[in-house]
Amino acid sequence: MKISFAKPSLPAEGAVVVGMLEGRVPTATLARLDTESRGAIMRAVAASRFEGKKDQTLMILAPAGLEVTRVLLVGLGKAEAIDAQGAQAFGGTAMGQLLSSGEGHAALAVDAIDGSPLAPAAFAANAGLAVRLRSYRFDKYFTKEKKEDKPSLKKVVVMAEDHAEAKRLFGPMDRVADGVLFARDLVSEPANVIHPESLAEQAKTLAEAGVDVEVLGEKQMRKLGMGALLGVGQGSERDSQLVVMRWMGAEDQDAAPVAFVGKGVTFDSGGISIKPAGGMEEMKWDMAGAAAVIGTMMALAGRKARVNAVGVVGLVENMPSGTAQRPGDVVTSMSGQTIEVINTDAEGRLVLADALHYTAERFKPKLMIDLATLTGAILISLGNEYAGLFANNDELADRILAAGKPVGEPLWRLPMGEAYDKQLKSDIADMKNVGGREGGSITAAQFLKRFVGETPWAHLDIAGTAWAKKDTATCPKGATAFGVRLLDRFVAEFYEEKA
Ligand code: BES
Ligand code: MN
Ligand code: ZN
Repeated sequence: MKISFAKPSLPAEGAVVVGMLEGRVPTATLARLDTESRGAIMRAVAASRFEGKKDQTLMILAPAGLEVTRVLLVGLGKAEAIDAQGAQAFGGTAMGQLLSSGEGHAALAVDAIDGSPLAPAAFAANAGLAVRLRSYRFDKYFTKEKKEDKPSLKKVVVMAEDHAEAKRLFGPMDRVADGVLFARDLVSEPANVIHPESLAEQAKTLAEAGVDVEVLGEKQMRKLGMGALLGVGQGSERDSQLVVMRWMGAEDQDAAPVAFVGKGVTFDSGGISIKPAGGMEEMKWDMAGAAAVIGTMMALAGRKARVNAVGVVGLVENMPSGTAQRPGDVVTSMSGQTIEVINTDAEGRLVLADALHYTAERFKPKLMIDLATLTGAILISLGNEYAGLFANNDELADRILAAGKPVGEPLWRLPMGEAYDKQLKSDIADMKNVGGREGGSITAAQFLKRFVGETPWAHLDIAGTAWAKKDTATCPKGATAFGVRLLDRFVAEFYEEKA
C-alpha cells in the first residue's frame, strides 16, 4: 500500500473517507460540501441505521453532485473519546471496507474535531499506521486467486491541514509497522519453510538495520550446558538455534540493556507426548513469541530508539522420532538445575529455561521480558482478548500493563506465589516440567521464575492472542504480531533517553 500525506482537497476520483461524530454530527469536510451533495449524503444517512457510533460505516456509491465514486462515512463516536486508538479505528475500519471493494484509490479526510484530545496531525499519522496494519496480507502461496478476490486498493492519501507534521509523526510509526508486518510474515509461514535455521537466517537480515546478530548452533549450546533447550530439539532433523540480537542505541554504550526473550518452537507436534491431529497445524505459530522479539528489535533499530536492547530467541522444532526425548527423561539446564520431563509437550518452558538463564547471566539486563505461546490454559482463563502477564516485580508489571493498553494489546496480570511450587515437585529431579491441570498457566510461570535469578522479570503468555480468528480494525485474521507494538511502546515510554 502506498501511503502519502497531503493538504485537504476534494478528490476527483476514487473513494473519499469522512468521519462522522455520534448523533450524525458531520465533520468539517462534510459541512464544507455544497448544499446538493451534502443533502444527498445526509439523506443516505437518514435512510440508514448509521449514527456515527464508533466502528459503524456507511458506503454511499456514486453520490450526487460529487466526482468521487464513493463516500465512505466512518463513525468516530463521541469527540471527547477520540484518541490514538480511535484514529486507528478510523483508518483501519476504512481499509476493511475498501481493500477489496474494487476501488483503487482512497483519500482519508482528517478534520479538526472540537473536544477531541488528539490533534489532527496525530490523528492523521495514526490513521496512516492503521492503513498499513490493516492492509497486511499473506498471499504468497495463492497461485490461482481470481481477480475479484484480490485486493484492489493500491494508494491511500491521508489529507490533513498540517500534513507535514502528520508525515513527521508517521515516520517512526511506519518503522514500528515494519516490525509488526515482518513478525506477521514469520508467524504465517508454514513450518516446512520456517524452521530453526531459516528463522535464524531471517533474524540475520536485521543486520541491515544496524542490529548485531549472533547465532549459536547446537554445538555451542552444548558447550554452554543448555540441556533443557537441546532436549526439546533432539527429535528433530533440524539443528536447534539460539539467536542473540543487540541494538545499542543509547548514548551510554555500557548502560545495562533491556532484554526480550522469545519462545521459538517452529513446530510443536508435542513430541512423544504427541498432540491430537485436529488443529495441530496451528502449532506452526508456536514461534510467535520469537517473532515478536525479532519484530520488536526491527522496530527499535528502524526508528533508531535511544536504548540498549537485547533480543534472545530459542529456536527448536518439537518432533517425535527415534532420537526424541522421552517422558521421564531428566535433563540438566544451563543453570545447573535438573528437570524431569513428564510431558514432552510442555516444551516451551524448557526452551525458555535456558534462554532466560543465558540472557540474565551474559547481559545482566535491567529487566527481562519473555513472550511465549506457552499454555492452552491461558486461553481457558482469558480467551483471545487479553494476554496473560506474570511478573516478579510490581513496577515492571505496571509499566507493561500501561504500555499495552494504548496500543490495543491488553494484558491481565495473574498471581504467582510459592504455594504453587509444590505442584512442580519431582521424585527424581529438582523439578518436573508440568504441574497438573489446575492453574496450568501459573505453574508454567513458576517454572520459568526459577531461571531468572534476581533479574526483574515478566512473562507474557500470548497463546490466546498471537493468532486471530477474525479481523479487527488494525489486523486481518491470522498472525497478529502481538507484543511488537507493546514492547516498542514500553521502551519509548519508560526506557528511552530523551532526544
Ligand atoms: N504450544 C503449546 C501451547 C498452546 C496451546 C499454544 C494452544 C497455542 C494454542 C504448549 O507447548 C503446550 O503444548 N502446552 C501444554 C502444556 C501441558 C502439557 C502442561 C498445554 O497447554 O496443553
Ligand atoms: Mn507443547
Ligand atoms: Zn509449544
